[in-house]
Amino acid sequence: MNIKIKCGSALQEPSDLLVVSQLKGAKTWHASVAEIDRALDGEFLQTLTRDQYEAKFGEWVVFPASQKITPKKVAVMGLGTKERLTLDDLRKIGGALIRRARDCKAKTISLFLPAEDILEISVQDMTEALVEGLYLSAYRFHAYKGKMAEQLEKHEIESVTIFASSKARMAQMERGAVLSRVLSDATIFARDLVNTPSAHMKPLDLADAAKKVASVKGSGISIKILDQEAMEQLGMDAALAIARGSVNPPVGVHLIYKPKEAAKKKIALVGKAVTFDSGGLSLKSAEGMATMKTDMAGAAAVIGLFQSLSTLRPKAEIHGIFLAVENMPSGSACRPGDVVKAMNGTTIEILNTDAEGRVTLADALSYAETLKPDAIVELSTLTGACIVALGEDIAGFMGNDAKLCQKIREAAYRSGESAWELPLYHPYDEMVHSKVADLKNTGGRVGGTITAGLFLSHFVEKTPWVHIDIAGPSYAEREVRPDQPCGGTGFGVRLLARYLQG
Ligand code: BES
Ligand code: MN
Ligand code: ZN
Repeated sequence: MNIKIKCGSALQEPSDLLVVSQLKGAKTWHASVAEIDRALDGEFLQTLTRDQYEAKFGEWVVFPASQKITPKKVAVMGLGTKERLTLDDLRKIGGALIRRARDCKAKTISLFLPAEDILEISVQDMTEALVEGLYLSAYRFHAYKGKMAEQLEKHEIESVTIFASSKARMAQMERGAVLSRVLSDATIFARDLVNTPSAHMKPLDLADAAKKVASVKGSGISIKILDQEAMEQLGMDAALAIARGSVNPPVGVHLIYKPKEAAKKKIALVGKAVTFDSGGLSLKSAEGMATMKTDMAGAAAVIGLFQSLSTLRPKAEIHGIFLAVENMPSGSACRPGDVVKAMNGTTIEILNTDAEGRVTLADALSYAETLKPDAIVELSTLTGACIVALGEDIAGFMGNDAKLCQKIREAAYRSGESAWELPLYHPYDEMVHSKVADLKNTGGRVGGTITAGLFLSHFVEKTPWVHIDIAGPSYAEREVRPDQPCGGTGFGVRLLARYLQG
């Protein structure tokens, strides 16, 4: 799909579908509606009035445009009321537009930027959100369709032309469109990694995906691979214990981005990278295991983000770290009751092998801290309890530094990837204290997300750190919004990008 920004008259643009948008409750029709109506001798407004069109959010009317204007069809998209319209709604509008355009088999679309001069948001941000909605809703994961591939919806949208109201705005809109292209591509890359079955996304495959990103010439990205032996030498016994049950060897990945000019800051991004979580000997139920190929979504977001760095070019030095393992039951698997020592010297009693994420992160965070970064941001599909607490759309986060937490809150809001803070409540600390070791890897059923966060806090001793639990929003069981088709969502890529932009 090709997206263009143009200045001039959309009515003269040859396209299959021209889309205009309209606010609910506005005293007048949008200027473009009036313009089309004049060209169509009043038929357009007559139809809208006859159909009792109210411009509710997403309310859509489409009709043939006769020979009087160049586009073959014209449609109106309702924006709802001005008071309720948000930046994120523009992503949804973009997504809905792709769905509707597919329904009416349009291949080329032209439109005006919705809500221009309505929202107190920059034209660049508005364009970015809209275009993200367009790209992200057009995503499909069809790599594994076989005989039934013929039945798939083949209709593809070729181009979308967005019309700017002035030359001055065109430049801003173009900047927004470029940014959203980069972030959408990175999100889609992460989605593909998450959607790929674990048989083809083993620890070494995930490392290969990172290598691919680092191999792009001029990206400023380099990579260090820690094979099993290197992990042993570093004392990553916790992560290695989780990997022991699988025939597929673990691997550590350390991506490094260096800006061209002197870096102002050093940021470490850490992702959970369990390529399949069977639960280990504390085996999951069939139902609980069904989606566990997605348990590397944190690492996927980090890899996706790195792909976008060569364009985003932040002024910080950025480190991306994950320890990829597969959590399997076998004769060599770690057992409940086993004790392992993490890289920072803390000993862990593994009481439930299904609480494996935090055990691997113990080493990943310890390693990240040896780099002496200014901040560590870590994403993981860590607890089912977080889905119970916040539902499937919202990530939970907690951290040891109020300023960093505030930055994450803002980045979440601006990126449209929702994250809500939970407390790192130290009175619960004793719930993860062990009788035989320093810590145990389960804190019991109550407060499961918080106790997981408290466990992790023992592996970041002096660095501002935020842990984002993405168990819910990393995967969409059903489509709740058009820009997020079922499956891996690529959650976190855009949040991280916003955070790095400051
Ligand atoms: N990967 C799971 C968490 C998860 C659950 C992610 C559902 C996405 C959807 C994690 O490794 C896990 O199994 N956590 C356990 C922890 C418990 C044993 C303390 C959980 O949440 O049940
Ligand atoms: Mn688990
Ligand atoms: Zn897991």
